[in-house]
Amino acid sequence: MCNMKRSLSGIKPTGNLTLGNYIGALRGFKKVQEEYESFIFVADLHALTLPIDPQALRSNTKDIVAFYLAAGLDVNKTSIFLQSDVPAHSELNSILINYLYMGELSRMTQFKDKSAKMNHEAIGVGLFAYPVLMCADILLYQPDIVPVGEDQRQHVELCRDLVHRFNTRYSKEIFIMPKAVTPKVGARIMSLSDPTKKMSKSDPKGDIFLKDEPNVIRKKIMSAITDTGSDIFYDPENKPGISNLLQIYAALSDISIEEAQAKFKDIHQYGEFKKIVADKVLEELVPFQERYKEFLNNKTINDVLNAGKDKARYFANKTLTKVKKTVGLYVHE
Ligand code: TYM
Repeated sequence: MCNMKRSLSGIKPTGNLTLGNYIGALRGFKKVQEEYESFIFVADLHALTLPIDPQALRSNTKDIVAFYLAAGLDVNKTSIFLQSDVPAHSELNSILINYLYMGELSRMTQFKDKSAKMNHEAIGVGLFAYPVLMCADILLYQPDIVPVGEDQRQHVELCRDLVHRFNTRYSKEIFIMPKAVTPKVGARIMSLSDPTKKMSKSDPKGDIFLKDEPNVIRKKIMSAITDTGSDIFYDPENKPGISNLLQIYAALSDISIEEAQAKFKDIHQYGEFKKIVADKVLEELVPFQERYKEFLNNKTINDVLNAGKDKARYFANKTLTKVKKTVGLYVHE
């Protein structure tokens, strides 16, 4: 269709999206669409890997589409679609599941973290096999890059192993080798209440949710856990809280950590520093929230999804047919 390089990414509609999702992924999608033919989807089937209220899943899904649009995704440049609207994801999953190993899947950090506190006998098969579906999501679109936060890099690496295995087995370049691309600054935003842990969707105190009211966001930043010093410099080991806030400031200002550090060299009070960080976050998120609300309330979401679904199905089915033929399934007209 066109010769641009391709990009694919997605977000899972579980819980409330956070500043981590925004900085690590969402914010970068707009820029990517200028240089790549872009596919961005809502990973709704993935949301079923842990129990979720059906109503919550539906409204989270709509939210994410509105967030995509609010983040500046342009439907002429990016196909926005739901994973569950493209049956090829599930079909390729059924094929690829035979090309990955139990050992590989059990070494995935996300699986280990999520299953650590569960009764071993009751860990869902879907949770275990999650990265297989993620490989299918990626490979159907033959993307050159997969823009993600640091925590998803391991899954993309697994996908690369699979591509190598599959192409070698059939002695053909069936799949293009995808590459994880993480933001230079902000690939791993940490919790504000425990800056040694990643900001995830399930910690109301440590998370900044994209739907939080501005005064709540400010309060959370002002009460972020920091160490006992008073100077502002980047040292994730000894000053994880300050380093995290510096990272947030730098990412949202499109500057390096060093540049951010230089800006604050004359500030010797954490309170003053936090206020500047909070101003920066609000400067970015308040207009973003306004756009989100507009998109949520007008009726464009279904139109966007219908258009995205058609384009995604076209690409996905092409790859699926190629894979079916390659592995020996009888494809007939
Ligand atoms: P999900 O929904 O957990 O996260 C969406 C994106 O946000 C990034 N992210 C972060 N970045 C920086 N700091 C953080 N604290 C932080 N928390 C989350 C994630 O790295 C991700 O890029 N498995 C994926 C969804 C998915 C997918 C795919 C992504 C399914 N299939 C295929 C890419 C390609 C997930 O659960 O992301």
